[in-house]
This record gives sequence, C-alpha cells and structure tokens, in this order.
Amino acid sequence: MATYSPPDSNCPLCPRLCRYREHNRKQYPDFFNAPVPSFGSLDAPLLIVGLAPGLKGANQSGRPFTGDYAGIILYNALLKLGFARGEYKERADDGLTLVDCRITNAVRCVPPENKPEPSEIKNCNAFLKNEIAAMPNLKLILSLGLISHNAVLGALGHKASHVKFAHGAAYRLSSLHLLDSYHCSRYNINTGRLTIPMFDAVMEKACIILRTAKQ
Ligand code: URA
Repeated sequence: MATYSPPDSNCPLCPRLCRYREHNRKQYPDFFNAPVPSFGSLDAPLLIVGLAPGLKGANQSGRPFTGDYAGIILYNALLKLGFARGEYKERADDGLTLVDCRITNAVRCVPPENKPEPSEIKNCNAFLKNEIAAMPNLKLILSLGLISHNAVLGALGHKASHVKFAHGAAYRLSSLHLLDSYHCSRYNINTGRLTIPMFDAVMEKACIILRTAKQ
C-alpha cells in the first residue's frame, strides 16, 4: 500500500496557481490559502472527487466544498444517506464527520475564476493517483463533473476515450467502480442541469454499488 503524501502548503508545481496563492495570502490573510487537504478517512470505501476549491469557500475554510454553494448540496446529500454525521455549518470547525467516505479535488489549489488549466490538472494528478493508491478499502470513486472524471481516469491510467462521462453512468475499472455525476455547482443547479433529486439518486446509486461491492 502506498504511503499518502499530500502536497505541502507551498506546493510549487503550478506557477499560475502559486502566483494566485501569494496574491490571495495578501488579499485575504485570514483564508486558508494553500492546497486544501482531503476530508475523511483513507480507510473509506468511497472517494468523492470534486473539481477545485472555490476562492471564498474551500480556499477560505481549508476543507473541501466547505463554504462553497456546492457544499450545501453535497453535504446535505451525504447527511441524508449516512455518509456524514453532525451538522454542516459551512465551516471547517462545525464538527461534521464523514462515514465510509472521503472527499478530495482534482485540483487542490484554488484556480482563478474556478477554471484550472490542463497543465494544472495534470500536475495535481500525481496527488490523486497517490491518494487512490493509499486507500486500502477503496471500492468506488464518485466523480463530480467531467474534469474530475478525466482526472480519475488519468490517475487510474485509463484512456478517457474508453469511458465516457455521463450523469449517473457507472463503470467497472479493474478492482474499482467509477460513478459519474454532474457537479453540484450553483451553475448546474440554477440552470436545472442538476436537481437535488437527481443528485440524491446518484448518491443512492453509490450506496447500492458499495453494498454489492462488499459481497
Ligand atoms: N467545488 C469543488 O469541486 N470542490 C471544492 O472543494 C469546492 C467546490
């Protein structure tokens, strides 16, 4: 089993993101302003992979999705199905805990305008690959959005063309399952591309896959 080695707080791999981090450290000195660590146990069977921290959400709080609009949708869905315990209060010290679930991002540093560049997704992929390899009980990866889907395929060494992204699609990739969802972003919710029942249905599918994968 690989040893988990997350990026350090001054990860130098992406020059544009380093410049943005320095800018944000001056502009928002109280924010976390560093690669946002994954949340949840490495022993979890489910890994949820988002896109990247939001400037005033996860980049401020230091916990994935925490303080971002998408976090309201995600953590409420996790609470409903027992993948989280406590109360989600949009801050990292709210005491919320994850159950059988871990959350990370395809890109761990906040990108300008929420848009990581392909080189940044590629640079950060080494951390995702390492994290997946360091999860001994991992059965299912839930990808939120196309960038996450492609990042997971890259980390697993699969060609993206063989496994198409589609909301609700599930794939078996050697010993792991991959499940796709539209990202639970404010944009997707506001445009109706993703509804709360659609997202809850994907989370329920995740439960079913995990139940059958255990047998
Ligand atoms: N959106 C993501 O994809 N990840 C976060 O951590 C926050 C918002």
